[in-house]
Amino acid sequence: MPLTPIVDEQSIERFLALALARVTERAAVAAARLRGRGDEMAADEAAARTMRAEMERLPFRGRVVIGEDEHAAAMFVGEEIGEGDGPLLDLAVAPLEGATLCAKDMPGAISVVAIANAGSLLHAPDVYMDKIAIGPGYPPGLVDLDREPGENIAALARAKNVDDSDIVVCILDRPRHAELIAKCRRAGASVRLISDGDVAGVIFTTQPAQTGVDMYLGRGGAPEGVLAAGALRCVGGQMQGRLVLDTQAKILRAAAMGISDPRKKHDMRDLVSGDAIVCATGVTDGPLVAGVDFGRNTITTETVVYHSFTGTVRRIRAEHHAGKMQD
Ligand code: FBP
Repeated sequence: MPLTPIVDEQSIERFLALALARVTERAAVAAARLRGRGDEMAADEAAARTMRAEMERLPFRGRVVIGEDEHAAAMFVGEEIGEGDGPLLDLAVAPLEGATLCAKDMPGAISVVAIANAGSLLHAPDVYMDKIAIGPGYPPGLVDLDREPGENIAALARAKNVDDSDIVVCILDRPRHAELIAKCRRAGASVRLISDGDVAGVIFTTQPAQTGVDMYLGRGGAPEGVLAAGALRCVGGQMQGRLVLDTQAKILRAAAMGISDPRKKHDMRDLVSGDAIVCATGVTDGPLVAGVDFGRNTITTETVVYHSFTGTVRRIRAEHHAGKMQD
């Protein structure tokens, strides 16, 4: 017989965090079944299909603010998902962030979801965003997107009371970043290049002791920027992002989504203005979370849950009964 929960206002939020973790766990398992098969689209679609099915069962209704549109199972922006008669929440989803990493079975693919009160998440169009991020514990404004990388590196090193050469900057390995990478190295910093997956790249800064990353710099997806900002906000990290609106069509698209100043430097309050819960489950192994492990009878997942109401970062290592974890 099913348990009858006694739910008060406060425990609903706690319950939500766990319910969300279940969503990313299942999506991660679905994607992980296709690890290393060289088919990004199939892995993406499997993760999205499973995530959608789990989302439909959540006890709240959400409107997708950050979504996708690449395939049939995609959760597209504007779509309402879930049940319940409470207020509508903002949803940001990346069923498989780093599809290429999963297809190549390389480190760093994750499944991510964020929820926040309606109107809290920036409605970012699917364009690039220039980003800078550092972890918690620093004075506001310590780094700035419009400063030279060397200045930001020096400021962070001073605040950490270390040498500039001790700072590690994470950057997406792209030709467009050649100059940025050179500048960081000239400033004495070490550069950790990632081939994909900058949601994780930004989140790395929240736990430098574990990930070895102090700062994130560079240009990546704007939707990914909002998702990562959610996690950073929960722990008190800092982030700024500027949309790359280099054509009239992109400027109009952003304007239609409520962004009237195309050059605006969005700070944390613009990216995520209210409380949020962010869940990320590992698909492949990475410095943030371990990937899905398929055992004989169990499937093990690792999820990190960021909860801004309390600032808690919770790690959930779940052992699922393999027979009950079918997609
Ligand atoms: P997908 O998971 O959608 O493939 O995105 C991977 C990703 O690496 C993001 O993390 C990043 O923001 C973006 O692609 C970078 O875009 P590009 O590959 O065009 O440089």
